[in-house]
Parts: sequence; C-alpha cells; structure tokens
Amino acid sequence: MSYLKRFGYEYYDLKNILKTRHLEEELEEIKQEFATLPADSYAQELNRYRRYGRAVIIPGTGHVQWLPSVRTEEGEMYKYFQGSFNPEYTDSARDFPAISEKMRENRLLDDIILFDYRQTFWREEDLLLPIHAGVHFVKLEVDNEQEIAVSSPNHLHQDGEPFTFAHLVHRQNAEGGGNAIGTPHVAGEVPENVNEKQLLKQMTLTSPLESYGVFDPMVSHYVAPVTKGKEEMKGERSMILIDFQPTVCPDPEEISKQLRQGNLMFAD
Ligand SMILES: [Fe+2]
Repeated sequence: MSYLKRFGYEYYDLKNILKTRHLEEELEEIKQEFATLPADSYAQELNRYRRYGRAVIIPGTGHVQWLPSVRTEEGEMYKYFQGSFNPEYTDSARDFPAISEKMRENRLLDDIILFDYRQTFWREEDLLLPIHAGVHFVKLEVDNEQEIAVSSPNHLHQDGEPFTFAHLVHRQNAEGGGNAIGTPHVAGEVPENVNEKQLLKQMTLTSPLESYGVFDPMVSHYVAPVTKGKEEMKGERSMILIDFQPTVCPDPEEISKQLRQGNLMFAD
C-alpha cells in the first residue's frame, strides 16, 4: 500500500522520479510562466500571484485533456469553484487568469499531472467517469523586508477536493514558506499552537520539483507565510498545486432548484 493511502500524505522528489529527457528545458519553461503570473485579484495585498487551468483525465487513457478556457474582457480565464472548505471563499466561484496555451502543451507539466493522478485512489464507480484536475500556479513574492506573502487559508486546513499535490518550481531568497501536515482535528490552527503529536510532518521544500501530496480526508495541511531573505533580490516561492476530484452527478433536487431559478444552460 502506498504511504499516501496509509498515512494520508507523502513526499516525492520528482526530479529523481521522473528523469525525463527534456526535464531541465521544460522546467525552465514552467519557471518562465511564473514570471508572467498576474496578482491574485482576490488577494492583491497578500503578494500572491496566480494562474489556473482545468483538465480531465479519462481513466485508462493516460491522457491529460485540458478543458476550454473562457474569454472575458480581462483575458483568458478559468472558473474555479471550491465548495465549502475554504472559509475565506465559501461556495463562491472565482475567475482566475488561465495558464497559457504553451504551458498546457508542456510535457513536464503533463508528466507531473499524470504522476499525481497515478498516486490517487477512488471508488470503482468514480473511475468510470473523468477525474478532474485543477492546476494552480501560485507564486508568493516579496520585494522588501516589510512585505509578507501569505497563502490561503493561512492556517492548517483541508481543501475539500479528495487529493492535492504540491510541487516546488522555484524558491529564492525566501524565509518561511515551510509546510506542515497535521491531523484533521487541528484544522483551523497554526502549527505553533498545535501539540506535536497532532503534527505528522513539517518540512521546507527547497529544490525544484520537491513535492508532496495529501489525501484530504485523512489530514490537514499548511504553508507558512514567506518573507524576504538576506540577499539583494526579491524573495520568491513558486509552486504548482494540483487537486483531483471525481465527476459528481448533481442531485435531482438541486437540478429542479436551478431550473426554477432559470440557471440551466444548453450544452454546446
Ligand atoms: Fe490547501
């Protein structure tokens, strides 16, 4: 049985595991994409930058299929719906700028998504329908000593999606940004206030493609704020976060309610 299935979390050094031929070039391309991330419009003052994309994997195909993005006045976007688990954005849909077309063709990103997908485990019926992958590029960046870059939410929490994987792309001149994995009971707390027995793991990812995954029902997770280090350059911590969820069939009452409210749209 995998460590992830047994304990609800696992560490991976993907540079050693993937070892693909063009890894360094493709990683460099991914790093470039992080230089273009716009400020997270839901958290501008928090020194957080992001793009997002949605893909599906049809079980048995080993193929990542990106879903179409939406063109809006602000550019190409993907809608993101988190459900009830992030207390800062309960049940609301957020629009995020799309991960670029070029990135969606990057083979290393494809390999990372498929690697993560292969660590996941499901009910038999979930594997009859596509598994959905939400891909977040998130950068915490600070220009000076006064600034602090903060993740959301800023305490131990569960995401609501069954699985989330986190991959370091780049870290420079950053203080903090350490990760903690805890039991579900300590969700809502910061690690400093938690009894050590409830903390399963604490680590700081420093090398590109150092990664971890969580099986959300079994654990809570946390990343500490980032501040600038001592060198004369900005502090940065760039991560790819990938969550996985099954295709969910809506309950008939919910469909009736949406029908009454005139919210149903024709498929195209
Ligand atoms: Fe999270």
